[in-house]
Amino acid sequence: MFERPVIDPRCVLVSLDIGARDAASHAEFEELARSAGAEVVARVGGHRASPEPKYFVGTGKAEEIRAVVQEAGAGLVLVNHPLSPSQERNLEALIQCRVLDRTGLILDIFAQRARSFEGKLQVELAQLRHLATRLVRGWSHLERQKGGIGLRGPGETQLESDRRLLRARVDQLERRLVRVGRQRAQGRALRQRSAVPTVALVGYTNAGKSTLFNALAGATAYAADQLFATLDPTARQLDLGTLRVVLVDTVGFVRDLPHELVAAFRATLEETRQADLLLQVVDASDPEADLQQAAVAEVLAQIEADEIPRLMVFNKIDLVDWPAEIRRDGMGDPVAVHLSAHTGAGLEELRSAIQQYFQGRSACQWLHLAHAEGGIRARLYAAGAVRAERIEDDGWWLQVEGPPDRLAEMIRKPVDGGLAVAPATGHP
Ligand code: GTP
Repeated sequence: MFERPVIDPRCVLVSLDIGARDAASHAEFEELARSAGAEVVARVGGHRASPEPKYFVGTGKAEEIRAVVQEAGAGLVLVNHPLSPSQERNLEALIQCRVLDRTGLILDIFAQRARSFEGKLQVELAQLRHLATRLVRGWSHLERQKGGIGLRGPGETQLESDRRLLRARVDQLERRLVRVGRQRAQGRALRQRSAVPTVALVGYTNAGKSTLFNALAGATAYAADQLFATLDPTARQLDLGTLRVVLVDTVGFVRDLPHELVAAFRATLEETRQADLLLQVVDASDPEADLQQAAVAEVLAQIEADEIPRLMVFNKIDLVDWPAEIRRDGMGDPVAVHLSAHTGAGLEELRSAIQQYFQGRSACQWLHLAHAEGGIRARLYAAGAVRAERIEDDGWWLQVEGPPDRLAEMIRKPVDGGLAVAPATGHP
């Protein structure tokens, strides 16, 4: 339905200090632009006490941007601020070049990286919603219409079509997402009933989550020195001695994640909310590490995942010369692991810390089942909870292991009247 126009990556970055100076935000924005495949040919900075209604920037600054764009022969202006549709249009009319704000840029990166069916639907929906407000009066103010960054999902052809068509597409996407969401909920319900706990990697973008995921699970999830290398969660089974967990990789967080994106990617982030343990990966070599940890904490709170127990993982110790180790609290429980996903130093410590965390929360018991209770036996096997079995004349003795509440749920037997009783436990 949509075209992917030819990319014009030569761009001018506009990143102002609104109020206080914010060097980290400028650097992150440049990383985002690079991540989208842009070639930064010039930068415009400056300071403003507050945004100006017409262009967001002042009239003099807008003229300056126009001159810089002309001189550099750029085809795109990226603005590190949320622009209203009219500010974007006014700037485009003045500069005669495509202008994209921070939300548009992040959406473009998501559009490039979405891999799963659901992820792609979510991105397209978010892009259409973002564009819908910008379609009111057509695009005639832009004489040199060009595609490229910011138009990678819904392209120019869509921009020219009428709003009814857009509305119909949004409705269709919403309906599909409801269906996909339902299937996903079923999958999650199955996993929740399993005795296998879920561990999710979270962290600031580029902290090294995908590299760590690969190093731990021996998988080949996509890792690249680009922001947002992961959009859709990838799950792998991880064997830690006697313990088995599901390891989930998630999309990286950024500061000031635009509100519409938090909503649009809820399904993706949902994986994080269901986890039993979060591994919060931090790039120990990054001077902005503290700010980034705060940003991650904020997003976790937004998606209501801040109550889930967290183990800190300080990655890239090879760059800062820290020893690989487990840090513990006063009770001796692991609170952080220092490692390098790249060299492998500290990976064993992390495995051991995860194991120690779950060992204290897992129960192991023997359970007797009669022949008529073969259904429960099959359920326990399917959930990966059975460690040993003895066959007797009157049924089975099973040794089962897992979180006590999940085991209890799995071994409950319905009786007449809808009540539930637990089978006999003890020892064979
Ligand atoms: P997003 O998907 O953008 O959220 O990134 P991510 O957190 O998954 O990061 P990724 O694994 O893609 O790693 C980012 C960059 O850091 C890559 O260039 C990795 O090679 C590099 N990297 C990851 N771990 C280490 C490490 O332990 N040491 C060093 N020196 N580099 C690392």
